[in-house]
Amino acid sequence: MLDWSDTTPNNDPKKTMPAGFQKEAAPADTTGLGEIDRSGGRVSVDDKRMINCRADVNQLLPLKYKWAWEKYLSGCNNHWMPTEVSMQADIALWKSRDGLTEDERLAIKRNLGFFAASESLVANNIVLAIYRHLTNPECRQYLLRQAFEEAVHTHTFQYIVESLGLDEGELFNMYREVPSITDKAAWALKHTQNLENPDFKTGTTEADQSFLRDLVAFYVVFEGMWFYTGFAQILSLGRRNKMVGIAEQYQYILRDESIHLNFGIDVINQIKIENPHLWTKTFQDELRGMIKEAAELEAAYGRDTMPRGFLGLNAALCEQYMHFIANRRCAQIGLSPVFAETENPFPWMSEAMDLKKEKNFFETRVIEYQNGGALTWE
Ligand SMILES: [Fe+2]
Ligand SMILES: [Fe+2]
Repeated sequence: MLDWSDTTPNNDPKKTMPAGFQKEAAPADTTGLGEIDRSGGRVSVDDKRMINCRADVNQLLPLKYKWAWEKYLSGCNNHWMPTEVSMQADIALWKSRDGLTEDERLAIKRNLGFFAASESLVANNIVLAIYRHLTNPECRQYLLRQAFEEAVHTHTFQYIVESLGLDEGELFNMYREVPSITDKAAWALKHTQNLENPDFKTGTTEADQSFLRDLVAFYVVFEGMWFYTGFAQILSLGRRNKMVGIAEQYQYILRDESIHLNFGIDVINQIKIENPHLWTKTFQDELRGMIKEAAELEAAYGRDTMPRGFLGLNAALCEQYMHFIANRRCAQIGLSPVFAETENPFPWMSEAMDLKKEKNFFETRVIEYQNGGALTWE
């Protein structure tokens, strides 16, 4: 006779229950805020899953996905605040009559306008959509760090607006008022809206694919493609000694975003490994279509932002860069390329990610946050 009264800690009820009854078990709490399972077994590494996990999500250890924990540590080592970057040179240049061309001013303002609201969109997606459905504590630990970094990035745009005396209403409303920016934001929001629905639950092929679509839209496209052309625009000006304070802040943001992107790619690839049935040919074609569409939206934004272009930068070069990046992102998540092979028109972008190499270039103060452990308190 079955003994249903056994509530001994560490006794895994799944092991004592006849096979036929296992499906009847109460649904696992994937939020971490449900009733405490007093008779549940201890979590073992093998119980952990990226999505639809039945193991307790409140137990960080034992770690299964060391890459997620390492990204959390890297994020902490990269700590920075926008207010530590001097804006004096930028203020002088912005206020000077002939320091910047009208084309450069337009590109800078549109770029800032795109990023200002995008950082909030990304943060809201993490907190309100991704976090809930990613059922792994070490990944959630990283998401909490990422959410803070997105807050620091939003702070950066507040600081820039304040320093340069920009029209805050104009800048923070561009994502609603400038059609080429609205088109990008609306495209991404489409993929997060059904996840924010309180009735949405992962666990079916259809729902799990929706979750993957959201990860591709935000990590691969928003942070991994659109942000990169945005960085290239500002860093290109920085290389010409223009808006060096903003360029330095963008270098820090780029360093953070490269970890966000790589985290997203690792999450997608790990979900694929654990759920190979989701990665059908039809689904892969759909994701490739999404990436292609996103590159086209970026090309339209580039034409709108740089109608005439300026030294070292124009809409055509940005479109070429987008094609190069799109193919690279496809390869990183195991999709075949969406564009013909093309050269990277901004090879200096990889250098820009290495702050040590670039710090003399901008001739601005760069704080070496990686040496956080060497701080003294005297
Ligand atoms: Fe960000
Ligand atoms: Fe990010």
